[in-house]
Amino acid sequence: MRVTTVLVAVLAAWSAAPAEGSRHVAAHAPSLRSSAIVKQQHRNLQAVNPETWASAGSTYEPVAGKGSWEAGGSTGCILVHANLMKGGDVVGWSSRNQGPDGQDFGSVAYNAQSKTYETLLDECGVHGRGDDKCRNAFCGAQTTTALSEVLLFGGHADDIQWFRHYSHGTRDLEVKKMSSGRWYPGVVTLPDGRVMVVGGVNDSGKAGYHVADEPEYDNPSYEIYNPKTRSFSGDQWGMRDQLSAAFPIHTYPVLVVLPDGGLAMNAGSLLAKYKQVDEVTWEKAHDYPSRPGPPWQYPQTGVGLPLPMVPPYDRLCLLAAGGSEDDEAGYGDPASDRAQVIELTAGPQAQWQDVGPMPHRRIMADAVILCDGTIGFFNGAEKGLAGWYDKPQEVQRRDGSSWHCEEKCSKAENPVYEPSIFNPGTGQWTAKGSLAEMGRQRLYHSVAILLPDCRVLTAGSDVTWDKEAEIYSPPYFSRGPQPVITEAPSFVQAGQNMTVKYASADPVTRAILIRTGAVTHSTPFDARALWLDFSSPANGTLSVATPARRAVLPPGMYQLSLLSDKGVPSTSAEISFP
Ligand SMILES: *[C@@H]1O[C@H](CO)[C@@H](O)[C@H](O)[C@H]1NC(C)=O
Ligand SMILES: *[C@@H]1O[C@H](CO)[C@@H](O)[C@H](O)[C@H]1NC(C)=O
Ligand SMILES: *[C@@H]1O[C@H](CO)[C@@H](O)[C@H](O)[C@H]1NC(C)=O
Repeated sequence: MRVTTVLVAVLAAWSAAPAEGSRHVAAHAPSLRSSAIVKQQHRNLQAVNPETWASAGSTYEPVAGKGSWEAGGSTGCILVHANLMKGGDVVGWSSRNQGPDGQDFGSVAYNAQSKTYETLLDECGVHGRGDDKCRNAFCGAQTTTALSEVLLFGGHADDIQWFRHYSHGTRDLEVKKMSSGRWYPGVVTLPDGRVMVVGGVNDSGKAGYHVADEPEYDNPSYEIYNPKTRSFSGDQWGMRDQLSAAFPIHTYPVLVVLPDGGLAMNAGSLLAKYKQVDEVTWEKAHDYPSRPGPPWQYPQTGVGLPLPMVPPYDRLCLLAAGGSEDDEAGYGDPASDRAQVIELTAGPQAQWQDVGPMPHRRIMADAVILCDGTIGFFNGAEKGLAGWYDKPQEVQRRDGSSWHCEEKCSKAENPVYEPSIFNPGTGQWTAKGSLAEMGRQRLYHSVAILLPDCRVLTAGSDVTWDKEAEIYSPPYFSRGPQPVITEAPSFVQAGQNMTVKYASADPVTRAILIRTGAVTHSTPFDARALWLDFSSPANGTLSVATPARRAVLPPGMYQLSLLSDKGVPSTSAEISFP
């Protein structure tokens, strides 16, 4: 009971937009904000009475309405993998290389501002061209570096051992062989900028319950890639016990760097903390309790991501949501509406706290940290599971179009069209029916990604052959005028203050730094957000503090957004922390 109360208090500090009550106070405050005032706000949020934090199942209607959807045009290929790049392009990698109309599917750079796409790499899509320069990267795992590069680990069939290092600036692609094959691995950027690829299986297709008796295809090792030297460490085995125990429901493991440099990993339903003991060796520090309920990884795909952190960044909570209602769920079985949070920095005593039910049951959700620190849930279905099978289906789309699926058809049914938003400041979800519904179903092999302008791109869905994007404007745009960032640095050394200039009709009271999105298979790699302290040396100028600890701010690309006292975010500035 006590642990729960403490966690609730901590969560209340993991605040999102200012609460209703505080808004009126802030409206009378001058637009000049000293760091003392900002720190005071954090303290006030931490002091929120746990009794006021919503109890399980509590929902809210967004004060600024439902938000709105717009068509995003064609993405050129079915986005299965997506990374946000510097300049706002979303680099996407497709799945199948032949469309029904015979065209090739390459990799694309889609831009949500112009709603256009550009094909990349001469048809070197996920399936590759079958030559040495272009290997099949389908169902690998990827992240983005501070230099706007995509690192894509693992792949498919004969190319399962390959890795791609793609630089969007130069359009340069280098492929390399990893030490072993990985299909459905996890990826995490370490505090020193190296990137760890974890687990997966070494034969594509050997994931899920049907391979429970084929553990020889498991790859319970990890390997570390150094993007500076472009070299691999060789396979390491410090996570073998947990990964093997979770097989076969252990692919796309959830990985989170903790503020003390430790690493939390969830595989299946096993959650543990690892600590680094030398350059390439991590060993288990301790187990955490398992998230209540069945394993929540492929094909019972739930989603896990860390909630935004507040200064001094010594606490980190993981939100886990959705998946299947029951273990070994099959076609037609209900998805789960469970959502829980665990404070990973509380050590072995940490406990899962219920923050559900979600307004919708959801398998294969894509979760996105929004620009006001709330967590948006998109895509997925109320029934079934991830993956595909060859049961022909007629897909009727809401726009009147249809698609006849002959093979590789959906194992999930009842698409969820309505987003849901979780507010970590109150523990509440948006009420069912309170947000605008999207027009397209996004099932297996879909993506959702935060755009630089704080809208959300949803795209993909292989099983419904969807190349049309949709873009969501969350309700926060309707709360008032947006602050505008007029000047911000593009490269910052962690620990240094950033000088940020802005114009705003309302006082700017908060600043948030969000890691740019990299997603596939409902796994938001390296997801992270930090509320930042700032002072205001002059009207329209902020000195924004950044944490020096790289375990808090791992190297990579981030987007900075300023929020008005009404909780309206500015378009983000893209900032790399090398
Ligand atoms: C997969 O890895 C295991 C070792 O973990 C090895 O025994 C097996 O031969 C590998 N299989 C393939 C197809 O590479
Ligand atoms: C950096 O920002 C912090 C927080 O706003 C402030 O207290 C500090 O004075 C700033 N430092 C410099 C050198 O501007
Ligand atoms: C700051 O500048 C804005 C215009 O950008 C102005 O409306 C406001 O009054 C100024 N505030 C102070 C305290 O000078």
